[in-house]
Amino acid sequence: MQKYNLIATTTFGLEAIVKRELNALGFDDTQVSDGRVRFTGDMNDIAKANVWLRTADRVLIEIGSFKATSFEELFDKTYEYDWGNIIPEKANFIVDGRSKKSKLFSISDSQRIVEKAIIEKMKTKYKIDWFEKSGNLYKLEVALLNDIATITLDTTGSSLHKRGYREQQGSASIKETLASAMVQLSYWNKDRVLFDPFCGSGTILIEAAMLGKNIAPGLDRDFSFTGWEGFDPKILKNIKTEAFDLMKNDVNLELIGSDIDKNMIEIAKENTYNIGLEDDIKFVHSDFKNV
Ligand SMILES: C[S@@+](CC[C@H](N)C(=O)[O-])C[C@H]1O[C@@H](n2cnc3c(N)ncnc32)[C@H](O)[C@@H]1O
Repeated sequence: MQKYNLIATTTFGLEAIVKRELNALGFDDTQVSDGRVRFTGDMNDIAKANVWLRTADRVLIEIGSFKATSFEELFDKTYEYDWGNIIPEKANFIVDGRSKKSKLFSISDSQRIVEKAIIEKMKTKYKIDWFEKSGNLYKLEVALLNDIATITLDTTGSSLHKRGYREQQGSASIKETLASAMVQLSYWNKDRVLFDPFCGSGTILIEAAMLGKNIAPGLDRDFSFTGWEGFDPKILKNIKTEAFDLMKNDVNLELIGSDIDKNMIEIAKENTYNIGLEDDIKFVHSDFKNV
């Protein structure tokens, strides 16, 4: 299977936890930079990382990095990649952009130049002038930082914090990835009590329960890479089957949440039910001062 340079993106400050998670999944060649952890792997590993990472936002394939201080340079270096073998003829490919501390500060112009270079290169393979983009999504990004352009392809789709259990949430709910990081950084483990006296929609407790029972956060969702041409659905099926086998259903947890807002308690219960953890977390409607 082809090996790729991969990047797990995350919230600034959580890189060390993502690295720890990747190491625990068997990826030893991790390198940390701001908001990013680099590692390598094949399609199997891409599926594994997407299904198991609790504190990363996305898993990207790094197509390449190069210095670019002019649009000409950006075009020429982008054109060098073998786009005809990366993007299928009918793919719905889009190019997002970001720029920080770089001469090429216009994001829209950089996106346009990269897209143009990709199209020109694709023309040489597909021998057509116009790409209808009617197929599956291939989301690329050109990120410029200190004049270095990094072009990536997103394997994830909607961000990994969207586990699928939180249909409703409060106005101040915490992201699932951050909640998991907080639990992982705390002294809590599955044999200890966890009490969240301001539990809101229950995110921290649900993430703790998922850790305690070893429930993979991506079990109940789909990813961008499953729509890619030539992707073998058995890869994801095997990773998910293995994840089901690794669940520790017999673990007894003591997780308790309370909140002053009755409506939030109902939402927390519903979210807990959505993921099948209703027997593991107890919710109480109460003002903290009465606890
Ligand atoms: C920032 S939110 C918690 C968000 C939660 N972590 C989540 O992901 O949904 C703070 C919560 O504290 C609750 N709250 C505020 N004052 C409270 C009090 N005196 N006793 C209990 N809960 C209170 C609010 O109802 C709100 O749901």
